[in-house]
Amino acid sequence: MTETQALPLPERVAVVGVGYVGLTLLCALGKAGFQGVGYDINQEKVEQIARGVVPFEGAEPELPELLADLVAQGTVTATADPAHLREVEALFIAVETPVDDTDHKPRYLALRSALAAIGPHLAPGVLVVVESTIAPGTVRGIVQPALEEATGGKVGKAFSLVHCPERVMPGRLLQNITTYDRVVGGVTPRCTERAMGVYRKVTSGQLHPTTALVAEIVKTAENAYRDVQIAFANELALICEELGANVYEVRDLVNSSPFRQMHIPGAGVGGHCIPKDPWLLVSAVSELSPRLLPTARAINDAMPIHLADLTEDALQAEHVALNNAVITVLGAAYLEDSDDTRNSPALTLARELVRRGAQVRLYDPYVSTLGEFTVQMDDNAIDGSDALVLVTAHRTFRELDLAACAARLRTRVLVDGRNAFAPAAAHEAGFRFVALGKGDVQPVVTA
Ligand SMILES: NC(=O)c1ccc[n+]([C@@H]2O[C@H](COP(=O)([O-])OP(=O)(O)OC[C@H]3O[C@@H](n4cnc5c(N)ncnc54)[C@H](O)[C@@H]3O)[C@@H](O)[C@H]2O)c1
Repeated sequence: MTETQALPLPERVAVVGVGYVGLTLLCALGKAGFQGVGYDINQEKVEQIARGVVPFEGAEPELPELLADLVAQGTVTATADPAHLREVEALFIAVETPVDDTDHKPRYLALRSALAAIGPHLAPGVLVVVESTIAPGTVRGIVQPALEEATGGKVGKAFSLVHCPERVMPGRLLQNITTYDRVVGGVTPRCTERAMGVYRKVTSGQLHPTTALVAEIVKTAENAYRDVQIAFANELALICEELGANVYEVRDLVNSSPFRQMHIPGAGVGGHCIPKDPWLLVSAVSELSPRLLPTARAINDAMPIHLADLTEDALQAEHVALNNAVITVLGAAYLEDSDDTRNSPALTLARELVRRGAQVRLYDPYVSTLGEFTVQMDDNAIDGSDALVLVTAHRTFRELDLAACAARLRTRVLVDGRNAFAPAAAHEAGFRFVALGKGDVQPVVTA
């Protein structure tokens, strides 16, 4: 077949790793008319999906209904047996791709074990698409050799290989997957074209054909870009604090200038992707030692520690030592109005406050545990505290009756890490109020 002829579409497809991304993709593929099977090593997850039940918490509009329908129709199923993959003509890999906490290098345990499991069961000519976020060079350096060894053939002949990175955001998974533009990076142009045929059915967004390497760089760069922008906003917040200005007012005015789109500062960056993807990008180079991306990571990682400093200072001003204080952290999830706690800055803050001797309570209406902490899901967590420290701007917290809260505290300190409260309202309620990025001291210029 020549490069210009239309390539046949697969009928049966599989998704390897049915977590947030993989399950949503499986449903989107089912909705687009493909017969889909989800393969996962997590037996419990497989059983739930096979019953038509979404195995994770959090509001995901339309996903539960779609999964239930597709399972009832027999369009989608799930298995923990890789032998079932022999029947599919296209296979999408969506396993986790974390980095090591210490050296920040990719830890591809899941990717390597998925490749080992699927390798012996690949149908001749199968299309393999890696949707997981991976460091640049991974398709060529790890995936392609593993599949060539397993099939005994060459890429482009024995199988097609593509990287089409996922761009979803929890809370809008299905909507994102079915509407966003996609970057489709094949190892050969024919590989790209085969995958484009499938994605044309899945998303109403534009498809951007490229190489696997470029797709790897684009995806990790998208999140590294965001991390750097947030780090800029955070650094400016610290500058504004010292100078006695309000960073949010500064941001609005900066953004009134053409071509400026300053991000929002805050108590830290969490979630599965942004804290790790810049490291995946950095890990790909060996001659260059990138400086900006690690610095941005360090700035963002330090924000919850800064919140601990603000809390300690505010308590000191009230003559309360941190090691005698009871502190209630408002929020355990990393994202507002969600239960997702992956890499939540609340955990860093809570640990730091404990390390400094404080007694810490966590309060989050959506979360019951965070790391080693039990999280209280009701507002009893406020009673008798010396300080409230807001990390997550859940609606419940933004709508708090501040005067009523103040009356329940032992010491009236309120620290706002997300621009959730108006200073005037906090002061009126009787709080000593401190907010990230809002300096309360006018700058003194000395000659
Ligand atoms: N979650 C997001 O918002 C998001 C957004 C964009 C990209 N991504 C990327 O997508 C990938 C998946 O992320 P996720 O959030 O869906 O992860 P997840 O942890 O929710 O899901 C991964 C799934 O893979 C399964 N798995 C692990 N090893 C396996 C194996 N050997 N064989 C079969 N299944 C296996 C796990 O059991 C799990 O169900 C990651 O690379 C991530 O960076 C995630």
